[in-house]
Amino acid sequence: MCGIVGYVGSKNATPILLDALEKLEYRGYDSAGIALVSSNGIEVKKTRGRISTLRSITGEVEAGGCTVGIGHTRWATHGEPSDVNSHPHLSRSERVAVVHNGIIENYIELREFLAEHGYVFSTETDSEVVSELIDYYYNGDPIEAVRKAEMQLKGSYALGILFKDYTDQIIALRKDGPLIIGVGEGENFIASDIPAILKHTRSIFRLGERELAILTKDGVTVIDKYGERIEHECEHIDWDVDAAEKGGYAHFMIKEIMEQPEVIAKTINPRIINDKRIDLGLKRITDDDLRGIKAIKIVACGSAYHVGVVAKYFMKKTLGIPVEAELASEFRYDDPIVDEHTLVIIISQSGETLDTLYGLREARSRGARVISIVNVVASSIANESEDVLYTWAGPEIAVATTKAYSTQLVLMNLLNWHIANVKGLMRDDEVARAITQLREIPEQMNGMLSDHEQMQYLASLFFNCHSVFFIGRNIDYALSLEASLKLKEISYVHSEAYAAGELKHGTISLIEDGTLVIALCTYRPLLEKMVSNIKEVKARGAKVIAIINHDDTQTEGVADHVVRIPECSEYAIPSLTIVPLQLFAYYIASHKGCDIDKPRNLAKSVTVE
Ligand code: G6P
Repeated sequence: MCGIVGYVGSKNATPILLDALEKLEYRGYDSAGIALVSSNGIEVKKTRGRISTLRSITGEVEAGGCTVGIGHTRWATHGEPSDVNSHPHLSRSERVAVVHNGIIENYIELREFLAEHGYVFSTETDSEVVSELIDYYYNGDPIEAVRKAEMQLKGSYALGILFKDYTDQIIALRKDGPLIIGVGEGENFIASDIPAILKHTRSIFRLGERELAILTKDGVTVIDKYGERIEHECEHIDWDVDAAEKGGYAHFMIKEIMEQPEVIAKTINPRIINDKRIDLGLKRITDDDLRGIKAIKIVACGSAYHVGVVAKYFMKKTLGIPVEAELASEFRYDDPIVDEHTLVIIISQSGETLDTLYGLREARSRGARVISIVNVVASSIANESEDVLYTWAGPEIAVATTKAYSTQLVLMNLLNWHIANVKGLMRDDEVARAITQLREIPEQMNGMLSDHEQMQYLASLFFNCHSVFFIGRNIDYALSLEASLKLKEISYVHSEAYAAGELKHGTISLIEDGTLVIALCTYRPLLEKMVSNIKEVKARGAKVIAIINHDDTQTEGVADHVVRIPECSEYAIPSLTIVPLQLFAYYIASHKGCDIDKPRNLAKSVTVE
């Protein structure tokens, strides 16, 4: 998704902007650009392609030594990736330059309006109307122009704006999209995310909905939507700069896979009191409210939705009420049946996924109680939920999520047991035992990760395969969905996840000599059925890798290869089962030489529909 950066200070802005844009590459992009303002006016350099391409054309502006500028990485939505469609957009009058993340829904209407006033457009983007509209309203007062233009914008926007007449400032504005302000000494920054500016400052704050910021090198002024000046307290970011870098690994993805034991512990531990009680720190949703909950809906996109599908199985079993996992993009348009007795659990790593955010709003407008599970502090979803539970996974840079998925999963366990406990469905001693077992995961996972050669070996055998089928039953089926997504998104190998019982209703016709089937066989009550499914696909020529429990004696000898999960509690099985499958996807993609951290066509944070 698009990334925005901005710098105002005394240093040469170009290298700072380019470096900051590189830190946002993880968001996914197809073009990049910068704009600099000085007494010579506004200069724009932009291009389709990678930041390295942008670097090759910015030598001249860099030599100019401008100290104020904005930058952008674009992930095309309206208009193909091209030089002209790249941001920044400079108004025809060359008075205003804009970088935009989001979508202007009424841009066609606005184009027509501006065209009637003599404005001409050169791009296919929705964003170009923003620079021209601000130009239209500009009469010497930049804030007035931005606010007047904003009154006409429908949709979502995070904006960085330069004015030719104001060579010492950047204006920033946001609605429904992320934007942070970094406060430095004699320099200030805007960015879509923290890693972009961490090298320069650790003091940041997030701009609120429809707040406008004016940044100069000496300070930041924030004005709310009513025109009132407001103060924001800065948050101190204590991550290591390393946490946002690769730390010696070949890719962010493998680094993040390896970090899972640590971040799972960080997510669980602060919520456990005296080794036996769960304190989630819910502020608005009381125990009484939870006792009154009669149904649960888990709403999310992508891998976060897959966490919801796993949780659906265990929550239904523990709580004995209807629990459904729904794709946010479906939920929001499906007249969801929820009320004050429904708990809607929103799951999102970024906290900015637009469909998920709108799903949340839909749920709240219908009176549902909403708890969100989010990784990015103070993100839109976190802010708009009644209560938020943060996963403490740290910044996740690889587009394909791993550590955020794992922390979401353990947090769903804690939430499940907390609700069960207040509803009188789990005794205190049962909760205490479950907690102890959950807390064993990091150590068990460490053991699996240090033994990653088996997955490396299996990937070396199968990296040339054209199609992979993942099968499982119950929670194993839910885990297959994630395993399949992981493989296809980073290695471009076609894969599908199937409830094993569905095989004979279609998919089995696709099995031929050598087709790879990965059978997840950790769900004990249905192990025999899985063994039969393995035999069925083997009889049609499939090669089978089975993921099995440590004490499974039935599957070895039937499958071609087995991967054993270490001895662990039933609560730990899903968290451990996904690990070899993440590794398998990673090593297949690595064998194929794929761009693992930035797979084609994908974005980390999907802030458009
Ligand atoms: C994108 C990412 C996925 C993620 C999904 C939902 O598709 O590539 O990894 O699961 O968005 O994102 P969220 O930030 O809401 O968890």
